[in-house]
Amino acid sequence: MPDVNLTTLYKLKQSAEKIVCLTAYDATFAHLESQAGVEVILVGDSLGMVLQGHDSTLPVTVADMAYHTRSVKRGNRGALIMADLPFMAYATLEQTLNNSAALMQAGAHMVKLEGAGWLAENITALVQRGIPVCAHLGLTPQTVNVLGGYKVQGREQAQADTLLADAVALEAAGASMLLLECVPSDLATRISQSVKVPVIGIGAGSGTDGQVLVVHDMLGLSISGRLPRFVKNFMTETADIPAAIKAYVDAVKAVEFPAREHEF
Ligand code: KIV
Ligand code: NA
Repeated sequence: MPDVNLTTLYKLKQSAEKIVCLTAYDATFAHLESQAGVEVILVGDSLGMVLQGHDSTLPVTVADMAYHTRSVKRGNRGALIMADLPFMAYATLEQTLNNSAALMQAGAHMVKLEGAGWLAENITALVQRGIPVCAHLGLTPQTVNVLGGYKVQGREQAQADTLLADAVALEAAGASMLLLECVPSDLATRISQSVKVPVIGIGAGSGTDGQVLVVHDMLGLSISGRLPRFVKNFMTETADIPAAIKAYVDAVKAVEFPAREHEF
């Protein structure tokens, strides 16, 4: 059992203290982040882009995710480890169960999958078998080819209503946490207030229960040389990587990050 568990996260939401989440893919960063006060380490399939150099997350495999989860587990000192189920690893119920088991046995305490209302059945089956689930809604990078690009989601009223309904339905299905990516901050705040489970945001404003960033982004590292609007480079005001991670933790806790300029 990690020091941080679901009870810890629910208490943080209830006491309106922000939850700090950050990606890590290896032992050194997992060690650094957990020691700096990051409560949830996300082994994100963003590793397909920032580590492997692909132009999307689609090529990432369950074996890749398990390898990095094992590495993160060795460095972690008490954070809750959440691992992404990669593209097509949860297309059927049987795949969902087998692949989630592989990630849990690699050291994850929770799995994350991308989707909407259709995920309900899979989520219920996982929770019944002892695997907590975070549902990633809004901009879901694994469906970038259907979405037609990496774009803000939920700008139109009908889309916003669907997103809220999905969030409520997935909580009812047993999701232990939700993650909202690139949605207008008013909508993200409304969703966070409409569910009891913690809602983590990225590009979703400061009204969510917690924040997450890709660690390379917040260290100012980018192959393209461009950083998304919702990212802050924490290296510019700090001396080294440990200090930048600590500054991120402090800024999320103080509700100083994200600021207005990072919102949609
Ligand atoms: O893979 C990842 O890093 C993620 C975050 C962007 C939320 O899913
Ligand atoms: Na991801």
